[in-house]
Amino acid sequence: MTPIIKLFSLFSVYLLISWVSHSPKNTDEDFLNCLQDYNSVYDPDNIYTRQTTNFTTILDSSIRNLRPQSQYSTLTPKFIITPSNEYEIQAVIYCSKKVGIIMKVRSGGHDYEGLSYISRLPFVIVDLRNYRSITFDTQEKTAWVEAGATLGELYYAISKQSDTLAFVAGSCPTVGVGGHFSGGGYSMMSRNFGLSVDHIIDAKIIDVNGRILDRKAMGEDLFWAIRGGGGASFGVITAWKINLLSVPEKVTVFNVTRTQEENATELVQLWQSIGNTIDQKLLIRLFIESISSTSTPGNRTISVTFTSMYIGGVEELLEIMQKSFPELGLVKEDCTEMEWIESILYFAYIDPKEESTNILLNRTPLNPITFSKNKSDYVTRPISKEGLEGIWKILHEENPQKAQLQLSPYGGKMAEISESETAFPHRKGMLFMIHHGIEWNQEEDSQKHINWIRNLYSYMSAHVSKSPRRAYMNYRDLDLGTNNIVGSTSYKQASKWALRYFNNNFNRLLHVKAKIDPTNFFRNEQSIPSLWKK
Ligand SMILES: Cc1cc2nc3c(=O)[nH]c(=O)nc-3n(C[C@H](O)[C@H](O)[C@H](O)COP(=O)(O)OP(=O)(O)OC[C@H]3O[C@@H](n4cnc5c(N)ncnc54)[C@H](O)[C@@H]3O)c2cc1C
Ligand SMILES: *[C@@H]1O[C@H](CO)[C@@H](O)[C@H](O)[C@H]1NC(C)=O
Ligand SMILES: *[C@@H]1O[C@H](CO)[C@@H](O)[C@H](O)[C@H]1NC(C)=O
Ligand SMILES: *[C@@H]1O[C@H](CO)[C@@H](O)[C@H](O)[C@H]1NC(C)=O
Ligand SMILES: *[C@@H]1O[C@H](CO)[C@@H](O)[C@H](O)[C@H]1NC(C)=O
Ligand SMILES: *[C@@H]1O[C@H](CO)[C@@H](O)[C@H](O)[C@H]1NC(C)=O
Repeated sequence: MTPIIKLFSLFSVYLLISWVSHSPKNTDEDFLNCLQDYNSVYDPDNIYTRQTTNFTTILDSSIRNLRPQSQYSTLTPKFIITPSNEYEIQAVIYCSKKVGIIMKVRSGGHDYEGLSYISRLPFVIVDLRNYRSITFDTQEKTAWVEAGATLGELYYAISKQSDTLAFVAGSCPTVGVGGHFSGGGYSMMSRNFGLSVDHIIDAKIIDVNGRILDRKAMGEDLFWAIRGGGGASFGVITAWKINLLSVPEKVTVFNVTRTQEENATELVQLWQSIGNTIDQKLLIRLFIESISSTSTPGNRTISVTFTSMYIGGVEELLEIMQKSFPELGLVKEDCTEMEWIESILYFAYIDPKEESTNILLNRTPLNPITFSKNKSDYVTRPISKEGLEGIWKILHEENPQKAQLQLSPYGGKMAEISESETAFPHRKGMLFMIHHGIEWNQEEDSQKHINWIRNLYSYMSAHVSKSPRRAYMNYRDLDLGTNNIVGSTSYKQASKWALRYFNNNFNRLLHVKAKIDPTNFFRNEQSIPSLWKK
């Protein structure tokens, strides 16, 4: 951005702020008074202002990436509200609307671009950390999960009900169900069961008018939209009802690594047509990094880790591997049988022999928080050997083990579900999804690493899905395009990013949005715009 444009945009943000609130101080008081007026029993402990001593602790508590705040934010929220019941949520919607302040909803806070906790306009965060109970109907094999629960809390609670019930959702236990379920929810069992959205049978959402709607009251269009279309465009999702899934008493995991010297490139080539067609109870996910070579000091090599889950015992698994992927050379010693809940710890890099499952209740992450920038792609035709070698070359340009590609296979159940069944569109024909990631520790290095990953992404364009080049909404990437923060956003502008996330489902999402939130109260840089269609 040239300095003059930068100055201009700063100026327009300033104009906006003064337009939104002529006198910021009064607006703040108005907002707090409004909360109390609306709901005289509003628990004052659930209201944090910038003067509250642990305001920053609460704000930072679920942040997983240091980049968004440093890159985009000029403002911290004016308030963080941590409601413990639906009436307190209704009050925040009502009062934000009344005083003209942006409202962001945060469940687990894992959004890659921080859209749940940053904004360039004055804003309030509704943080659902206190709204997270889980109740079971074991007869029916269902559960109601409140939106502030983390995946870890859900997995833990299920394991206390039964050893053979489970759910399909992401590997990171601190991800929130509020954001995760509304965008899809890819799991180590997705080839067998599909995504989280495929097992949601009811939900509760509070709309712009404060109405609390369940599936019946919201109607099938909105219920469809929040399963893959994201929650933030439509209202505050307060709870999901899910179908629990049956798993055997033992599942089997393995995690083997091969370097270039051990035929890694050839194995990736083979995997591209095996990963999505092999027995659907088996999911083999690849983690690819450039590492320092141990055989030749100073040299680099590519390491490919095959991280896998089989929903069954080790003998069956070995038979399948012998038949379909003998080249990997998997042996029994590589495999471990364990309970499903132990596999959850395993894929979260926690040793199930060392730690109790209680660790899943920990809402703070185990690893230190770094700066990161991640992007996604979908592959529909195998990438050639030359194509792969070009990727390796780019990976070698970065620091060893800081850049990573994750290749997540599709096929199986995911390919059986039609593109229009839920708002999540990436189904038939997808061989695998790529997650491109880079992390770093120093803010001053940000531009260098962001440039690197943009360069990788541009190289990849020749090898991935086209028209649109698809992307996974839960791996949010503002490089794909954004809405105008002020004023309306045209269909054309929103299409740039929305067709990649939603493909043919975008039009129906626009239709749902226009009906449920015509004034576009629920908005962010990548929310479905409210377009008036005549
Ligand atoms: C370490 C890590 C590991 C991950 N692993 C996986 C994985 O294995 N599989 C996978 O599919 N994804 C994975 N993800 C991506 C993850 O699914 C998304 O980041 C998801 O959106 C996070 O949900 P959240 O509630 O934690 O995030 P938040 O930041 O709280 O929310 C994300 C978005 O949803 C909105 N939102 C949140 N709650 C609500 C609500 N109750 N009502 C309405 N809108 C709401 C927010 O406003 C925001 O726009 C991972 C992310 C991280 C950081
Ligand atoms: C915030 O501060 C109050 C009062 O000092 C304390 O009781 C509460 O536990 C703190 N909450 C957090 C999450 O730190
Ligand atoms: C690599 O592949 C070749 C033949 O394709 C094979 O002979 C060799 O044993 C393999 N190396 C390893 C380490 O698996
Ligand atoms: C270092 O790696 C390159 C590329 O893989 C290879 O051509 C070269 O022989 C290696 N050097 C040594 C000393 O092994
Ligand atoms: C798999 O192995 C790699 C390489 O040794 C390691 O970094 C990673 O943590 C392992 N993954 C799991 C799930 O144990
Ligand atoms: C992005 O990817 C990097 C590298 O794979 C990973 O370490 C980081 O946790 C990811 N970022 C977020 C916010 O999850």
